[in-house]
Amino acid sequence: MQQNEGKWFLLIFSISKKYFLCNDSEIISLMVFSRQMTAKFKVLVLNGPNLNMLGKREPEIYGSQTLSNIIDELSEQAEQLEIALEHLQSNAEHLLIDRIHQAFENTDFIIINPAAYTHTSVAIRDALLTVKIPFIEVHLSNVHAREAFRQHSYLSDAAVGVICGLGAKGYEYALDAAHHHLIKNI
Ligand code: DQA
Repeated sequence: MQQNEGKWFLLIFSISKKYFLCNDSEIISLMVFSRQMTAKFKVLVLNGPNLNMLGKREPEIYGSQTLSNIIDELSEQAEQLEIALEHLQSNAEHLLIDRIHQAFENTDFIIINPAAYTHTSVAIRDALLTVKIPFIEVHLSNVHAREAFRQHSYLSDAAVGVICGLGAKGYEYALDAAHHHLIKNI
């Protein structure tokens, strides 16, 4: 039922048998809240430096999709898998580390493309080991077919798995694998 030129909605919660009168923004918050309530798992996606430039950055290596486009598609996939997805891209190592710490004991899985920090960051490795959240490392490009310095990762040996060289599809496969990992370990 609608009133006031479509601005107010009568919501009926069938389980609680309660009635609420909500405006548009309250409805959106409730929808987000109820989606989080129905989600079985919480997955955090982290993207490191320069990945905000995807689409423009060396498209012959990293493809033409933007990061927001990749995350939109991943969010749709997550919804179907009943996963609550959160995402952070940062060019700052400490912000990625802070976000990993925030995930402690409230996040089931991490999908991380640490970008250049893959090859340099003992600190991101330590953060992941600290929170003990299982993670998959993703790279758009095949790092093993590139410069020698890209062939060492500070994270790979601690990861559930590593996906590289499959472009943006790698994130999709990682989310699917994370879901399998989580349902197997319930
Ligand atoms: C990357 C590979 C890294 O070597 C590079 O520094 C990146 C992106 C990838 O997704 O292919 O920034 O992680």
